[in-house]
Amino acid sequence: MSKEKNVVTLTYGCQMSERDAETLTEITRQEGYNRTDDLEHADLIIVNTCCVRESAENKILGKIGDLKKLKEKNPNLKIAISGCMVQQPGALERLQKRAPHVDIWMGTHNLHEFSELLHRSDTGAKVAEVWQEPHETKESTPLAEKGKLQANVNIMYGCDNFCSYCIVPHVRGRERSRKPEDIIQEIKNLVASGCKEVTLLGQNVNSYGKDFDPPYDFADLLQEVDQIPELLRVRFITSHPKDLSDKLIQTIAKGSKLCEHFHLPLQSGSNSILACMNRQYTREYYLSIVEKIRELLPQATLTTDIIVGFPGETEEDFEQTLLMIGLGHYSQAFTFMYSKRSGTPAASMEEQIPLPVKKQRLQKLMSLQNEESYQLRQRMLGKCYEVLVEGPSKTNPDRLTGRTRGNILVVFDGPQEIIGSLVSLRILEAGSWTLVGELVE
Ligand code: 5AD
Ligand code: SF4
Repeated sequence: MSKEKNVVTLTYGCQMSERDAETLTEITRQEGYNRTDDLEHADLIIVNTCCVRESAENKILGKIGDLKKLKEKNPNLKIAISGCMVQQPGALERLQKRAPHVDIWMGTHNLHEFSELLHRSDTGAKVAEVWQEPHETKESTPLAEKGKLQANVNIMYGCDNFCSYCIVPHVRGRERSRKPEDIIQEIKNLVASGCKEVTLLGQNVNSYGKDFDPPYDFADLLQEVDQIPELLRVRFITSHPKDLSDKLIQTIAKGSKLCEHFHLPLQSGSNSILACMNRQYTREYYLSIVEKIRELLPQATLTTDIIVGFPGETEEDFEQTLLMIGLGHYSQAFTFMYSKRSGTPAASMEEQIPLPVKKQRLQKLMSLQNEESYQLRQRMLGKCYEVLVEGPSKTNPDRLTGRTRGNILVVFDGPQEIIGSLVSLRILEAGSWTLVGELVE
């Protein structure tokens, strides 16, 4: 009998990237590989990359460099690098020179060719495939890992927004929506294999179906997904504020499985910076959306992304961002220092902000948001929330963990049998990040 082959998948970046990594791992499973975390005994290591910020790229380059030692120890080891970093215009040649120990390079549009690329590398040949354009028919047949309680489902690919700091439209291509029937079928298949919660993924889910005729939009899709039997919860990310419709808020208010959580990236609280970022909304418009959500869905939670130190950001601009923290009442904010991405308009803007200033602003923003998160969790004390039980807590495996509809993590004691079901929990303790609850009969 031939030796079992092992694959380790390392993935970086957003949920789309995670979802791509799942597809790659599933392809290797079909090729006879077992999934493990043990790098020392791997026959294949996949590094699925992200290039949204320089810090991510440096971390990944370091990791790819480290893999050289493993390759020296085991010349049969195959190393495959995929994802956004490889897809950047002109990046492949540079990367190949820097990491000659890598066997397979592939861009974001080549996922479904992976088994073929694996076979092509069997002879020891170096393989590289980076298509400049997506191949739509291939995208409509994604592979997901089966049997998981929670799954990510792509509803669209790419982005048309070209925010001036962002590399994503350059590495993920133009916006394209998957057909509703394909999405619904994929979710039904996932549910049949034990999935209880899906997260619908798109760079901007609010522009889903923009080109469909007859018209069919994201709210229509949510309404249909809400009807799928045995599915317990539906989440979605990301919502560009400029395209969030009243119909969507109303649909979520009417739905039963549609979780009341909006990831609504603000990026900046200053109108002049928002304009330079090409975000296509003002702080006033953003706040009017927040108000509408709060009016129809008082229990909704909001999370956001914020960039500090965008070129030209003054102290006054930054103050405007700080003020938005108090107005948005976010349960969580993902905060970043602006990072120059070559090929984007912001990279060549004058008045780049010095690193120490960016660091200082980030610290200030983070501590303000931590206080906000703490207050929000304090307000949950003594109240009851519906939680989907996900499994043992990572930090305390004797306890269980799950999330509220608003995507807030709770730890609690309970029997293993309730994993995968909805329970009601009363909140007993609240810190900045974790909540401790107890089961309510
Ligand atoms: N620098 C810093 N943060 C960025 N993001 C995107 N591009 C950059 C960049 N060049 C952030 C945005 C986006 C999140 C996914 O990453 O906040 O919403
Ligand atoms: Fe990047 Fe803007 Fe598209 Fe989001 S909406 S992926 S920030 S270009």
